[in-house]
Amino acid sequence: MAVREILKMGDPRLLRVAQPVTAFDTDALHRLVADMLDTMRAANGAGLAAPQIGVDLQVVIFGNEANSNPRYPGRPAVPRTVLCNPVITPLGAQEEDGWEGCLSVPGMRGVVPRWTRIRYTGVDPFGEPIDRTVEGWHARVVQHEVDHLLGKLYPMRVRDFAQFGFTEVLFPELDPNADDD
Ligand code: NI
Repeated sequence: MAVREILKMGDPRLLRVAQPVTAFDTDALHRLVADMLDTMRAANGAGLAAPQIGVDLQVVIFGNEANSNPRYPGRPAVPRTVLCNPVITPLGAQEEDGWEGCLSVPGMRGVVPRWTRIRYTGVDPFGEPIDRTVEGWHARVVQHEVDHLLGKLYPMRVRDFAQFGFTEVLFPELDPNADDD
C-alpha cells in the first residue's frame, strides 16, 4: 500500500474515458484500491477516482462520516464504497446546486449543478453487485467521482463562474490546505 501522487488539472490523463475493469478479486485490483484508500486518507478527501492517480480504469472510492470533517459542515454520512464500472441513472429531472472541490484542482471550489436523485449500479472489487438509490450529498459525490471516469473535472460543469474561486477566499474559516473529492 502506498500514497500515490494525485494528478492535477491540465494533465491529459485526467481527460481520458477510463477502461472498464474486466478481472475482479485480483491482487492487482486489491493493490490499486488499497493505494487509492491510502491516497484519499492522506489528502483528507471524500472521494478519489483511479484516473486521479494515473490509472486508466473505472474504479472510484468515496465515503465520509457525518460531520466528521470541518470542511463538510452538516453533511450526512456516505458509506465507504469501492465501486467499479459504475453506471448512473438520474431519477427525475430535478437538479440542485452545491459546492464542490477536487483533489486534482487544489485550493479551489465551485458551485456545480448535479442530479438530486440517482440510481447507481456497479460492482465491488470482488465482483459483487452494488445497486443503490440515493439523493443529495451522496448523489453529488457519486456523480463527481464518476465524472472522473468520463474525463470530466467539476470546473467543466460550473455554470456560474461568479461562484468559482479559491477556498481560502470563499471559505476563510476552513483549512486552506485542504481540498475534497
Ligand atoms: Ni475530484
